[in-house]
Amino acid sequence: MFRVIASKMIVPNMHLLTLAAPAVAREAKPGQFVILRAEEEGERVPLSLSDWDAQSGTITVVFMSIGSTTGRLALLAPGASIPTVVGPLGNATEIENYGTVVCVCGCYGIGSIFPIALALKRKGNRIITIMEARSSYLFYWEERLEAISDKIIHITRDGTKGHRGHVGRLPEILRGLEEPVDRIIANGCTFLMKRTSDETRPLGIKTMVSLNPIMIDGTGMCGVCRVTVGSVTRFACVHGPDFDAHQVDWEELLQRRKTYMPEEVVPLRTSRCEERHFRSQEGKS
Ligand SMILES: Cc1cc2nc3c(=O)[nH]c(=O)nc-3n(C[C@H](O)[C@H](O)[C@H](O)COP(=O)(O)OP(=O)(O)OC[C@H]3O[C@@H](n4cnc5c(N)ncnc54)[C@H](O)[C@@H]3O)c2cc1C
Ligand code: FES
Repeated sequence: MFRVIASKMIVPNMHLLTLAAPAVAREAKPGQFVILRAEEEGERVPLSLSDWDAQSGTITVVFMSIGSTTGRLALLAPGASIPTVVGPLGNATEIENYGTVVCVCGCYGIGSIFPIALALKRKGNRIITIMEARSSYLFYWEERLEAISDKIIHITRDGTKGHRGHVGRLPEILRGLEEPVDRIIANGCTFLMKRTSDETRPLGIKTMVSLNPIMIDGTGMCGVCRVTVGSVTRFACVHGPDFDAHQVDWEELLQRRKTYMPEEVVPLRTSRCEERHFRSQEGKS
């Protein structure tokens, strides 16, 4: 069993969970993830490692409560335990001295990009962090990212902090930097990563993303996390999760993420009447 050391909602719907998992903490590298189960017989969910401490043997994940398992994880109190923490899984992010690296992050990606940005900074890169959220109250870990970034830029949909809009504004923001950018790394929801990729492709700047297809085993056995990158089939859990954004078949990824939508939505519904309606609508489509 893995004990919960800390659990809190850091901004609305975004949760931080620190667990005692010494073996994972010892081996963890930036860009890797773990698979958790909130209960025996429960669904397995992959979550990126946002922080860890090999000495105290703890790992931290930051997650959005969007479905049944993340909802259960969000309710865990310090002192509780969960049955499964598997990891660290996936390949670590490539950390080299590239020059100037722009880290684009939003949603849970603000947490998951932190260890990557930190490692890149330690490697001697100049770090420009671009944080995106619907509104300023949804930003978290700003001090952490400020401490390791040479520059920090905010984008909010409602204009309450920084530029108004979303990552579609990247080209003008990058032009405004008036300095060459050697690499872009984007972490967060699929929309943020796809849109970042769309915007940086014409600029010819190498862009890496951490893909989040549905996963089951996380070890290359089930094939559920299949993605197409550069016309080649890849399993995100063992070949990724990082891939060259400009080579990713984004439409396929978006489609495959919706595969279990009915199964994901139905357990969240309490009314059987609603459930019958949902099923009948499904049959019509
Ligand atoms: C490598 C990787 C790292 C991730 N890191 C984070 C993170 O740090 N923080 C975070 O909030 N989210 C992260 N995700 C996404 C997270 O795994 C899903 O949000 C979670 O599985 C949803 O589970 P649920 O039961 O609460 O929701 P569900 O009701 O099952 O699903 C809600 C949504 O999550 C997607 N989803 C469902 N199951 C999975 C699954 N096993 N793998 C991926 N997506 C799924 C569905 O397509 C749907 O859009 C990551 C995904 C991957 C593959
Ligand atoms: S999650 Fe099963 S092969 Fe990747």
